[in-house]
Amino acid sequence: MQGTRVNFPLCLAPMVGLSHVALRLIIREYMPPGAFTLWPTEMLNSRKLPYEDFAKVPETMKGPCETELVPQILGNEAGAIAASIRKLEDWGAVAIDINMGCPVQKALRHNYGVALMGDSTYAAEVVAMATKVARVPVSVKLRAAERGTNPDFLFQFVRGLQEAGAAWVCLHPRTAEQKRRGNADWSQIRQLRDTVDIPVIGNGDIQTAEDVHQMRAQTGCELVMAGRALAARPWLMWQVGEDLGWPSPRDLEVLLRERLRKKGLPMAEFFFV
Ligand SMILES: Cc1cc2nc3c(=O)[nH]c(=O)nc-3n(C[C@H](O)[C@H](O)[C@H](O)COP(=O)(O)O)c2cc1C
Repeated sequence: MQGTRVNFPLCLAPMVGLSHVALRLIIREYMPPGAFTLWPTEMLNSRKLPYEDFAKVPETMKGPCETELVPQILGNEAGAIAASIRKLEDWGAVAIDINMGCPVQKALRHNYGVALMGDSTYAAEVVAMATKVARVPVSVKLRAAERGTNPDFLFQFVRGLQEAGAAWVCLHPRTAEQKRRGNADWSQIRQLRDTVDIPVIGNGDIQTAEDVHQMRAQTGCELVMAGRALAARPWLMWQVGEDLGWPSPRDLEVLLRERLRKKGLPMAEFFFV
C-alpha cells in the first residue's frame, strides 16, 4: 500500500463501537514483531471532526505507540472534508479512508456512505476533494452494487475513484440491501482486482486463518480485512502470521518479556510507553 509500511496480509475493519483504541491495542498484541498492517477508526463524521477534541472523544483516542492509523470519514462537503483531513493528519493518520459502504439511515439522510455509490460522478468528486488537500493516501471502502445493476458498474465506479486519486479501495462484496447478512461474493473482489490498477482490500466472510489464505488465493487481493472475527478472536493475527512463517506467539511473548525486563516495566505499561 503506497505510503505505508504494510507487510502483513490481514487488517482490522472499521466498526462503529468496536474499532477503538482498546480493541486495536489488544489485537496489536497478537501481531508478529516486525509486521505492519493498517489500523482503522470507526467511521467519523467530517461535519463534527473539526470541532472535536480528539484526545477526549473515545472514537479518536489513540495509544502513543499506535502507527499506520487509517481513520475513516463520512463526508461529501469540501470544507468539512478538508478541515477533517488536516486535523487527522496532524493526529497521525497515514491514510484517510472514505466510507462509501454504510447503509444506515443516518448516513443516507446526509448522502454519505453507500448513498455515494448512487452517483459515480459525485463520488469521484468527493475523492478529488480529499486528495486535493491530503498529504497522505486517500482510500475508499465500498460495497457490491445493488442487484440488477449493470455488471460493469462497480468497475467503472472504481475506475472513476482511481482517476480522482484514490490510492486503494476496499470491497465488502455484499449489497446495501444485504447489509451484513448472506454470503460475501468474493468473485467480485477477484474481478475488481483484475480490472483496476490500484490495490484492492478484500472484506467479508473471514472467520478463520484458513479463510484469510483462501481469500488471498482466490481473489489476489493485496490485503484481507476482517471485522467481527478479529474482534472476537484477536489471535487470528498470530494464527495467520504463524502459517506464513512469522515468529510464533511464544516467540513474541518471550521477546516482549525481554524488552520489558530491559526497560524495567510491567507488561501492562508496554503499550503506553
Ligand atoms: C458493529 C459493526 C459496525 C460497523 N461499522 C462500520 C464502519 O464504521 N465503517 C465501515 O466502513 N464499515 C462498518 N462495518 C462493516 C465492517 O467494516 C465490515 O465491512 C463487515 O462487518 C463485514 O466484515 P466482517 O464479516 O469481517 O465483519 C461495521 C460492521 C459491524 C459489525
